Parts: sequence; C-alpha cells; structure tokens
Amino acid sequence: MRPRDRLVLALDVPDLPQARRWIGRMKGEVGVFKVGLELFTAAGPDAIAAVHGTGSACFLDLKLHDIPATMARAAAAAAQLGVRYLTVHACAGADAIREARRAAEGSGLKLLAVTVLTSLGDTSLERIGLRGPTGEAVRRLGTLAVEAGAHGLVCSPVECAALRRQLGPNPILMVPGIRPAGSPTGDQRRVATPAAAARAGADLLVVGRPIRDAADPVAAARSVVAEIREALR
Ligand code: C5P
Repeated sequence: MRPRDRLVLALDVPDLPQARRWIGRMKGEVGVFKVGLELFTAAGPDAIAAVHGTGSACFLDLKLHDIPATMARAAAAAAQLGVRYLTVHACAGADAIREARRAAEGSGLKLLAVTVLTSLGDTSLERIGLRGPTGEAVRRLGTLAVEAGAHGLVCSPVECAALRRQLGPNPILMVPGIRPAGSPTGDQRRVATPAAAARAGADLLVVGRPIRDAADPVAAARSVVAEIREALR
C-alpha cells in the first residue's frame, strides 16, 4: 500500500456540491474518501458515486447497529454500491457482525467495527451499563468483533498499539483523531500525530479538520502523507 492510500479524508460537508468540490480538489492526494452520516443523509448513494467517479475508494461510515437481518441487508446494499469500507457497532453483537460479514462475502467490502465511541468515558459507560473501564471494554468488544468476522476496527490512536499487539497483524486498524504537530485538537481528546499513529500500527488514518480547515489543504494532505512515509520507512 502506498503511503497516500493510507490517508482517508472525511467528507464532513452538508451537501453534494461541496462534497464534489473536495473530491475534485483532493482526489490525487488521498486514497479513500469517507462519507459519513451527515453527507449520506443529505445526498445518499450519489455521494458514493461522486467518490467512485474519480477512481477513489469510498468508506461509508454509517456505524450500523441493528438486528442481524437488517445489518446483513445493509451490508449487501453497501457491497452492491462498491463501497470498500463500512462501519458497524461491535455492540450490535456477534450474530449481527457474522451476518453482515456473510452478506459482504465475495465483494470487496471490508467491515470495520467501532468498539466504544471516543466521546464516551468511564462515567458514560457506567450509566449505559457497559462494563468498563473504557480500555478494557475496547479490547473486549474488539476481540468479539474480529472473532465474529469483522475485517478490522476503528480505534483511537491511544488504543491502536495495544489492539495491534492483542489481535496480531491481520485486522485492519482505521484510526481517526489524527493531529499533525501544532494543529488544534478541537473536540478530540485522544489524538496523535500521523507519524505516531502509523508507528502504533494504524493501517489507515482518518483526517478531517486538519486538512479541511488548512489554508492549503493539498499541502496539508501531502505533509500527512510524508509523515506516514517517513514513519513506515
Ligand atoms: O477530528 P477530525 O475532523 O479529523 O475527524 C475526522 C473524522 O473522524 C470525522 O468524520 C469524525 O466523525 C471521525 N471520527 C470518528 N471517531 C472518532 C473521532 C472522529 O469516526 N473517535
């Protein structure tokens, strides 16, 4: 995989015209575009088609959490659209992940499980009734998801090295919370530089605001790719 192919740009924009502008501007700089809940709710499969129209790969970040039959049908629909990565919640349970994996079999779709949202801490877990502490819940749900057939996990840079050690080299680790040195952390708490995330075992790095809000987004993306290349040398 080329370093550039490891960079996932989050299309966190409200409509298709804006998404098209970002895709056109960044298509030569990143490997994957992430279509999340905001854009997919507004524009639907047209947003995925806009990504594919430039020859890039699409990550559909819908974080599915439903009964096994519905998860399977949604995974089949995403596979049909040619999506490369689709997120599901590990909390949907092993059967739901197993069924989704079965539905994706034979396509190029990779299922990535979300363990514990990084917006939740120990107190929130206790109120939900999910056994913590957070780090332990991440490891427990990560193992459950991979054993049930998830191709990988979405995890914070802080959890990445431990999950890599625990799960071995095979699961894909997709890591948001990336902040190049000196860039504002915003609402993110558990962050790391592109180099640190790559060294911790991240396969794919999700970057949004550090590129979207940069004065020169192309230069910002190239600098992230250069850091990844250097870290993996
Ligand atoms: O913080 P930044 O703007 O770089 O976020 C990039 C993307 O990563 C956003 O689309 C956000 O939804 C996603 N993200 C995530 N899980 C997290 C943190 C961010 O999926 N824990």
